[in-house]
Amino acid sequence: MRHVLAFSAFLTFASAAGAFAQQTDGQPAAPGQMAAVTTPESSAPSDAAAELTPVQKTFAQCQACHTFEKGAKTLIGPNLHGVFGRRAASIEGYRYSVNMKQLGETGHVWSEDTLRPYLTNPRAIVPKTAMRFPGIPNEQVLNEFLPFLKEVTSAP
Ligand code: HEC
Repeated sequence: MRHVLAFSAFLTFASAAGAFAQQTDGQPAAPGQMAAVTTPESSAPSDAAAELTPVQKTFAQCQACHTFEKGAKTLIGPNLHGVFGRRAASIEGYRYSVNMKQLGETGHVWSEDTLRPYLTNPRAIVPKTAMRFPGIPNEQVLNEFLPFLKEVTSAP
């Protein structure tokens, strides 16, 4: 997954640039907060960021909170390696929200079909999810994003 690694390195740069831009506005970016990530248009003014495809921009948002490679560390959200075919809330030791745990207890398994509504509007599926992400409202982007997500989460 070389390209993913290279891409993360780029993102580190892009988000650092975003944080810097915010600071010069007199609004210090709070580390770990999502402000810079949920509004990529306004906070990523660099030319390089503008070249990202919608799928890459979406993935960049996930990367603020999730890792995708096997055994990679837990960030704000659980590691997503192997998420296709995995039961919801099944990472040992990760503190899921009550609602996400309840969903897992119903036997809910993540797949293209179940990730679609969750990623469109997380709160419609898990009312009090701890995932502070507004969703991917654009169906076209989601159509392209889901196969991409499957690829990056199923690398050996
Ligand atoms: C602001 C941080 C944040 C962002 C951005 C984010 N997530 Fe999450 N995600 C979380 C958290 C926190 C949880 C745990 C939710 C809970 O317990 O309710 C989670 C849970 C999940 C789960 C369920 C995992 C499991 O083990 O059941 C999936 C799937 C997921 N996120 C995918 C994504 C994808 C794909 C993106 C990008 C499109 C994304 N997330 C963006 C924080 C985030």
